Amino acid sequence: MPQKKSAKKSTAKRTANQGLRHITSINDLTNSEIETLFAAADRYLSELGHSAVKHRIARSAKIAAGKILATLFYEPSTRTRLSFESAALRLGGGTISSSDPATSSAAKGESLADTVRVISSYADVLVIRHPRDGAAKLASEFADIPVINGGDGAHEHPTQTLCDLFTLRREKSSLKGLNVVISGDLKGSRTVHSFVYALARFAARIEMMPGALGMELPGHVDWRLREELGQRRDGDARRDAVYVAAKKPSRAKPDVVDILYMTRFQKERWSDTQRNDYPTVDKAFLATGRYKHASVLHPLPRVGELSTELDEMPGAAYFRQAAYGVPVRMALIAALLDLEPGLSLKKFAKGFEASEYPVHVQPRELGLDCPNPNCITHDEHDGKYTTNGFYVVRPDRLRCFYCETDIEDLLSATKDGDDAFFASESAARKSGYRAHARAAE
Ligand code: NCD
Repeated sequence: MPQKKSAKKSTAKRTANQGLRHITSINDLTNSEIETLFAAADRYLSELGHSAVKHRIARSAKIAAGKILATLFYEPSTRTRLSFESAALRLGGGTISSSDPATSSAAKGESLADTVRVISSYADVLVIRHPRDGAAKLASEFADIPVINGGDGAHEHPTQTLCDLFTLRREKSSLKGLNVVISGDLKGSRTVHSFVYALARFAARIEMMPGALGMELPGHVDWRLREELGQRRDGDARRDAVYVAAKKPSRAKPDVVDILYMTRFQKERWSDTQRNDYPTVDKAFLATGRYKHASVLHPLPRVGELSTELDEMPGAAYFRQAAYGVPVRMALIAALLDLEPGLSLKKFAKGFEASEYPVHVQPRELGLDCPNPNCITHDEHDGKYTTNGFYVVRPDRLRCFYCETDIEDLLSATKDGDDAFFASESAARKSGYRAHARAAE
């Protein structure tokens, strides 16, 4: 039975632990929660930091003694997995890891849902990386320990964004009002999607420089920036989109770039694995006027798009950015496990308001599903553990509960008191539903 679209109900939580806090999107954290995490990360750096190398944690605490962090990685990783494990160890906790799907039960065909149910009995917090968009959300439905998204397909990578923001704050003193240029594969890069949401929330001026035609921000990310995060877009969405706060004039100066954020071509998310048209950043590029004072960030790995000749420049921040992964993730683990007074994510507000839409579950036989082919809902094995759930963003717009891709131009219809959504009136009629009158424009 479809839930009434007005019902403020989440799709079925499969675990008993309803009140658990998970981080599957950067929008699961409020700005003040992010600032609180950064204050803790600063404190770890000053209390446990290396005396000469200011961005490095060099000593360990004991506050997580007896706690275990599990990493469950279905995709390659160096920084995310190892910095999470290092963070858990630096807090005095332990780690268990499954980092190679070929040697785990995934190779025998075990579902993600079963795997996370089992890991819930082995650890206190779980970090997951998966090639499917929305996999972390599915994991959070079956885990009864906090789940942290370590990157799910092209959807999001919220803890990379925490590292990115923390780096901006350390390099440029403040998060507010920066002029940030983002270049590369804006479509396939999950780090970019989490990052732009956060930048908009911290009132940056965001300039998009897609690496090639077709690599611009996905349409639903652009829509969220404009319609939910108060951004005005200047320029062409496909070439030179610039987002600024629609209501408040930005303090950022367009002719001075504070941050250049570069990303690699995400070949694993494209059918053509070679691109000869991908841009590179080198000293000559940075010598052009606007970039003179820019700090260069990159989530890494770099595979040619960032010249090694930049490494010795004071603005080359990418290795510091990778190092900050440890104190930032220490803060997140400590907050989720309630290890320190004043740093509990349990006690914090529920998360960023914009994601609080009612959820509608539509029976699959009514012919509406997520339009993103890489969504976990379409996975041959794991798809059957998902519900056909959507956030009702507007009366004509649904958002996949898992991968957060939107379906536009829908109409809602009714049958025996149940509401459902359809692409057209004739589709509604075919299922015996009668369309509601469209709201006046
Ligand atoms: C990123 C990722 O995996 O999304 N890497 C990382 O976590 N530091 C970026 C990338 O792989 O390009």
